[in-house]
Amino acid sequence: MGVYQGVVAPLLFRFDPERTHEATLRALTLAQNNPAGRRLLRALAGDLPASPVNLFGLRFPNPIGVAAGFDKDARVVPGLAALGFGHIEVGTLTPRPQAGNPRPRIFRLPQDGALINRMGFPNAGVAAAVDHLRALGSARGDAMVGVSLGKQKETPLADALADYLAVMRAVFPVADYLAVNVSSPNTPGLRELQGGDYLAHLLAGIRAENERLATQHSLSVRPWLVKIAPDLDWPELDALLAAAETAGASGVIATNTTLSRAGVRGSARAETGGLSGAPLRARSQEMVAYIHRHGGGRLPIVGVGGVRRPADALQLLDAGASLVQVYTGLVYEGPGLAGRIVRALAKAGYRPEPPPSPTPAPPGAGELPTVG
Ligand code: FNR
Repeated sequence: MGVYQGVVAPLLFRFDPERTHEATLRALTLAQNNPAGRRLLRALAGDLPASPVNLFGLRFPNPIGVAAGFDKDARVVPGLAALGFGHIEVGTLTPRPQAGNPRPRIFRLPQDGALINRMGFPNAGVAAAVDHLRALGSARGDAMVGVSLGKQKETPLADALADYLAVMRAVFPVADYLAVNVSSPNTPGLRELQGGDYLAHLLAGIRAENERLATQHSLSVRPWLVKIAPDLDWPELDALLAAAETAGASGVIATNTTLSRAGVRGSARAETGGLSGAPLRARSQEMVAYIHRHGGGRLPIVGVGGVRRPADALQLLDAGASLVQVYTGLVYEGPGLAGRIVRALAKAGYRPEPPPSPTPAPPGAGELPTVG
């Protein structure tokens, strides 16, 4: 057992999970803002063998990223990059600040290696995150920054597109890729956007806006991915994949948290919210494998759910994921996780597959700029 699991985690776990998370963000902010702190973060990551992944026209320095929700307001991108993460998905962001659900809203289930959360997209609003992203400069190293787009809690589903587009317009020049979050269980009705008329309308709107913004900013269109729930059944997933392909999405992120409590023992299992961590692993793997098989490898996949050890990441990559993200694993395994996984992948001889054929850029699109 390492120092984190043996000493640090038992201490941290004496406090409320959200307060611990806020303290973690403050510590990362402090560390990333001074040279000794940055050295400490890089030491925690350890040696990072080069393992670049070229995908959607972007170069990810390695396949391991931080999943959405960890750094909602884009406060600690440099810190997470120094810890060895090759990409950071910030957000989910809404057009205006919102408080989210009443606390407590995150619960640990240590015996399951899991969390349940019902955050409800608390965030400082897209403008605050854009300020942080603009100020990044070279501090993020070569890590890629994705932005997760969401809608305000009170916005009716019929008007959801306007919210997604408002966030998209604000972040377009400072995001390397966009993630369309239609799968959080904690915003009432949000998951209905994964099907039927809503979905086609939403995706068509995002595609059109992407092309319009690319022209307006003389930049290339942003790669955009749809983040999906693990609770979709196969026909629902088939329909979603078909819609995503039709709309020209760059890929899918599988998966968000689950409403299922199958196999979960912790006393917090009765709490309302989305379950993440180890109990989600098998389902996420199964979905990644299904999408890879049935999508004919055309839609690149970002695999996320229950990654705690290098073997878990390797299994998602073997199932067809091009990139892997973690959230709950960081809570239970600590800040050395990215480095451990990246080294283990290199040792296992992991080589990224050549990416599926890229989404064609519209005529006249320029080159992707470096954010900063
Ligand atoms: C999340 N997740 C999440 N996802 C998302 O798209 N937008 C968000 O704002 C959040 N917020 C969030 C908060 C908390 C506290 C947790 C634990 C999770 C889901 C996350 O990105 C990921 O999809 C799942 O947690 C599954 O991965 P892990 O945690 O098992 O590695």
